Amino acid sequence: MYLLYTILASLVCFFFLKWLKKRRTCTDLKRLDGKTVLITGGSSGIGKETAVALALRGARVVIACRDPSRAEKAVREIKFKSHSLNVTHMELDLANLRCVREFCKTFLQREKRLDILINNAAIPGVLDWTDDSFSMCFGVNHLGHFLLTNLLLPRLKECAPSRVITLTCSNYKYQKLDFQDLNYNLLPFFTYCRSKLANIYFSQELGRIMEGKDVTSYAVHPGFVQSSWTCHYSFLFRMLMQVIMWMFFVPCETGAQTVIYCAVSDEAAKHSGGYFVDCRPATLRPFARDSGVAKKLWEASERLVKPV
Ligand SMILES: NC(=O)c1ccc[n+]([C@@H]2O[C@H](COP(=O)([O-])OP(=O)(O)OC[C@H]3O[C@@H](n4cnc5c(N)ncnc54)[C@H](OP(=O)(O)O)[C@@H]3O)[C@@H](O)[C@H]2O)c1
Repeated sequence: MYLLYTILASLVCFFFLKWLKKRRTCTDLKRLDGKTVLITGGSSGIGKETAVALALRGARVVIACRDPSRAEKAVREIKFKSHSLNVTHMELDLANLRCVREFCKTFLQREKRLDILINNAAIPGVLDWTDDSFSMCFGVNHLGHFLLTNLLLPRLKECAPSRVITLTCSNYKYQKLDFQDLNYNLLPFFTYCRSKLANIYFSQELGRIMEGKDVTSYAVHPGFVQSSWTCHYSFLFRMLMQVIMWMFFVPCETGAQTVIYCAVSDEAAKHSGGYFVDCRPATLRPFARDSGVAKKLWEASERLVKPV
């Protein structure tokens, strides 16, 4: 009898978790032949799966990664899974603004097109500093991508209609930006939340600035995903998170779906500057929709990335 109860309880748990993790997939089959996609941090997780999906649709895919050997390994895997040879990598460390500038110079020399830029790379909540003395989360997740996008914007305009997709997180709602202390670096989780809120304001303001220029902008929350973000933490935390992630988080292929949707869907293009979850537009908390704050952050970021 106990055995029967155990089997029944396990089955209920199994189907409950399966239901909990059910997500929409991108059903738009649009091909991307002749288009070039740049993905930051495509060496693992959601970025790598996005690269596979877009290469499968015929795009030329460039992954921008800080570790060349990991990048080479990822390129081999993306080529194998997508049956495409049109995949390459370039070196980019978003924690160093000089490196971002050099990357853009080389990219613009090497690549004639840029149709879709995916600002995917991120560092989770860690208390560290970038080479330019910004807090690691704010510097990598927001400022590095801010500079990268701005330097690549002329090419995106030339190749219009083009798209910029910026990965954010629904955790944005736990914090607000403090303009007296954009470099906040006290509690790891909160530094991450703030950087992801900055991603939302950035994406919104980019959408506003590019209105009528056929360069559209999307902020995407991919859901909670079984990626490799825990590698920045202790062994014990990683083990604990493995169990939680296995139970509640979705695989990377699923996490990539909303990014793919924003890269190809005509429906998404009607909501430039918007926030997307589960392959559809979603509503932000009112404070995160404040265009005044978005503009203020844009102007502050312009000052911060200026070469000294
Ligand atoms: N996983 C989730 O549950 C979740 C939830 C909400 C939002 N997101 C967002 O989804 C995006 C992708 O995250 P993920 O889950 O796929 O994480 P991930 O597996 O840890 O991938 C992050 C990528 O960013 C790269 N990166 C980190 N620092 C970098 C730097 N300084 N310069 C260049 N690249 C750098 C990493 O490269 P290395 O391999 O060299 O470290 C890695 O390829 C992030 O923006 C994240 O905030 C994820």
